[in-house]
Amino acid sequence: MYSYKDVLAEVLIDEKTLQNRIQELAGQISKDYEGKELVLVCFLRGGVVFLVDLMRKITIPHSIEFMAISSYGVGKRESSGHVRVDFDLKTDIRGKDVLIIEDIIDSGNTLHEALPLIQAKGPNSVEICTLLNKYSRREVDVPLRYCGFDIEDKFVYGYGLDLDDYFRNLPFIGVVDIEKLKKVQAEKL
Ligand code: IMP
Ligand code: MG
Repeated sequence: MYSYKDVLAEVLIDEKTLQNRIQELAGQISKDYEGKELVLVCFLRGGVVFLVDLMRKITIPHSIEFMAISSYGVGKRESSGHVRVDFDLKTDIRGKDVLIIEDIIDSGNTLHEALPLIQAKGPNSVEICTLLNKYSRREVDVPLRYCGFDIEDKFVYGYGLDLDDYFRNLPFIGVVDIEKLKKVQAEKL
């Protein structure tokens, strides 16, 4: 396996900037959901690092749940507009206030398809909190209640987002140098 440094074009969002913004989001969420039955629904796997940092900064009582959704039909990096539920919620969310925790919204297709599935379970409310938003790539509109950072159309990794399934553990968001990536992928295969 290659190193993350082999394919890093630049650090887009450093650790301190990420943590400061997550603190702000957590403060806002703690205020907005005061007295509500908050359940954070984390979309696996990309959302986990964000979830764990965010929930530790939220000061009101809440529970967590997980859901894994995958797009099928086309390549990994493009969504097809059709999703499959690989792992579903394990507790009843009826009457609860759901906040979906996502790593990044790109075309919007995954969430567009997943939202009705969650709504069908009868929660009191459903809102979305995404760390990153690539608005220029949007194909379908998704209602974003909370967004960490709007970013340009660049392929990014780290802080939950993977590159060939690796590097989710990096504490920052990096931009992939596509030329370097192609080169190391060709060498290591
Ligand atoms: P979409 O909004 O349905 O297009 O899909 C968003 C999903 O695509 C995210 O949850 C990621 O898994 C993946 N994705 C989109 N852009 C990136 C990126 O820059 N790096 C890593 N994964 C990405
Ligand atoms: Mg994701």
